[in-house]
Amino acid sequence: MKGQACGKVILFGEHAVVYGIPAIAVGINHGTQAWVEKKEQFPSQFTIMGSDQTVTDQQDSLISQAFHRILEAVAIDFPVQARVQTELPPAAGLGCSATMAVALVDALVQLKQEHPSRQEIAQMAGAWEDVFHGTASGIDACVAAHGGAIWFQRGATPVPMHLRTSLHLAIGESGVASSTKRMVESLARLRERKPEMVKNSFEAIESLVRNARVALESSDLNTLGKLLDLNQMLLAGLFLSSKEIETLCGLARDAGALGAKLTGAGGGGCVVALCEDNPQPVLDAWQAAGFSGFSTVVASNAATRIARERSAS
Ligand code: MEV
Repeated sequence: MKGQACGKVILFGEHAVVYGIPAIAVGINHGTQAWVEKKEQFPSQFTIMGSDQTVTDQQDSLISQAFHRILEAVAIDFPVQARVQTELPPAAGLGCSATMAVALVDALVQLKQEHPSRQEIAQMAGAWEDVFHGTASGIDACVAAHGGAIWFQRGATPVPMHLRTSLHLAIGESGVASSTKRMVESLARLRERKPEMVKNSFEAIESLVRNARVALESSDLNTLGKLLDLNQMLLAGLFLSSKEIETLCGLARDAGALGAKLTGAGGGGCVVALCEDNPQPVLDAWQAAGFSGFSTVVASNAATRIARERSAS
């Protein structure tokens, strides 16, 4: 059985989303596939293709524990052989880990001939995210399962957003690993030391997210770009940015992007730049400065390749 999931870019509201503020994220046309089959004997086995990494569900490593939690969440009581293959760079803020969990759950429920909703699949995948991130909001797994553009608030039903115009995005890689767990913990420590400051920043982020919804729904790309820049300033004020992220954002704006910010946990990982149409000048500017990147289009009908493939199958 084959399962799939798409990577994500958080456009607005990362980190604050952990504390209940809404966020807007979109699925991208890069993702992860999983294959599962029954095997003869326990223990169950899990392989990340291309990485030489094979574990069982009985070992001590985080990946083994996460695999075990997924088997429990889907209530698999027979031995399985599972493999995943991803197009996403790990620790880059693009939801690689969540896509593995969602693709695995997607394949496992098919093996059991069950038909949960995409939201239920995302919830089962949360067991894996808990092992790696502890306090994950669930946004990565949610977008990995649904694709498209999503209005997400912790504990509430996610709302698919219908874009009236396609979004042309350039994604730039800082080349520095981003650890969600570490960055979420560092913000939690800052919040303990300076609760008023973090509260004010979250309130500002919330108003940006709400204005971004209005801008998205009215296809106001210029405003959307400015809101991205403002969100980046607020994230930098919470010590979530880095030298490389600022360089990437600056290069993107100079090359004509309407706005740019870090996406995901920050401290490294990727930036997202909104372009009026062709993202190539931004990609060229990054490449000239030694950074790699790629472009993705969020179609106005808000379907990602993974979601489309699935509904066609
Ligand atoms: C990570 O992609 C997004 C964070 O907001 C963490 C989370 O929401 O779980 C930093």
